[in-house]
Amino acid sequence: MQLNKQQLQGLPTPAYVYDTALLAATLDAIKAAVRDDANYHVHYAIKANDHPAILKQIAAAGLGADCVSGGEISAAIEAGFPAQKIGFAGVGKADWEIELAIKAGIGFFNVESREELEVISQIATALQTEARVCLRINPDVSANTHAHITTGREEDKFGIARQHMVEVIRLAQQLPYLSFVGLHFHIGSQLLDMTDYEALCARVNELQDLLEAEGITVPNINVGGGLGIDYADPDLHPIADFQNYIDTFRSHLRLRDGQQLHFEPGRAVVAQMGILLTRVLFVKHTETKDFVILDAGMTDLIRPALYGALHKIENISAEGSEVKTYDIVGPICESSDIFARDYQLPITKRGDLIAIRSAGAYGQTMASTYNHRSLPKTFLV
Ligand code: LLP
Repeated sequence: MQLNKQQLQGLPTPAYVYDTALLAATLDAIKAAVRDDANYHVHYAIKANDHPAILKQIAAAGLGADCVSGGEISAAIEAGFPAQKIGFAGVGKADWEIELAIKAGIGFFNVESREELEVISQIATALQTEARVCLRINPDVSANTHAHITTGREEDKFGIARQHMVEVIRLAQQLPYLSFVGLHFHIGSQLLDMTDYEALCARVNELQDLLEAEGITVPNINVGGGLGIDYADPDLHPIADFQNYIDTFRSHLRLRDGQQLHFEPGRAVVAQMGILLTRVLFVKHTETKDFVILDAGMTDLIRPALYGALHKIENISAEGSEVKTYDIVGPICESSDIFARDYQLPITKRGDLIAIRSAGAYGQTMASTYNHRSLPKTFLV
């Protein structure tokens, strides 16, 4: 996003500032990458950013929604996502959430276990309403990313083991008020190496051959989300390479006749449109280090503390060109409340305005009130 110093100067901090023009350009890039393939469907993963105005803009662009809670389903419907374009995923769905989803008439459940399948069938039977189910299969493909956000290996908690796939599909076909409509996969997040997706395609092709031999038809294939973004240089790559991502599936996945292909990107849709705007409270000098202490902390943006993620940090107020090395930290009473160590900024002083970049995804949605702090405010520009 373009940082406009005048515009940002008057805003209270800490705050998330979202650039809706960049979001619009990103949504255009997604549409361009899909081309006119009517059987390709993109569902935005709401967990990345659930701000109502952002959801409205994404719904208006024609995307569907990938939800992981009853709250997200309600927010999606409120924002104008048509119910039939909503998918509901997650390893632990509560009964009330399943009921809400069936009553809302969502497009499909992504079911993660035999146990869950049985409960959905019971609730659908009680409501006398058919539930459409996709089975999330654990592809046992490991992805090149942080251990906390790789999800498709055998030891991860997600999905149904592929060895059990056929019997669980048969169960889905037999249970009352269920209709088996497809398979779902997701291998991880912040993926930039397309060979990870090629490995997923190879696995899906293999599983599809097996199912074909069993006489099972699969109307929908959902390949999840995970496309990564450039945290190091957001200005060089403000929009993720959706073309390359979607083309990877176009050329490596063997879709059957009439089969629909679904994608669930979250981060790549919204990360670059957001900054966390914060002010310098103190610059503290010690024997060994200089600390820039911000008014934003891990309660506002937890990614650095939780994953060791590095977001680009800019001093918007500084005018000189002389730089210094700082540890850039928040005010929270935890030693992991650090945004960056040994980071170079122009000479920084109390009151300077700082932008923490690429914070539109998994920033505000993961904020907490630890230390009895207020949740960060939001501004759309
Ligand atoms: N589909 C499923 C089944 C998922 O579990 C996720 C993300 C997505 C789609 C969207 O993935 P994306 O396109 O955003 O990578 N809080 C972490 C990321 C957690 C991702 C969880 N699942 C972070 O800040 O990096």
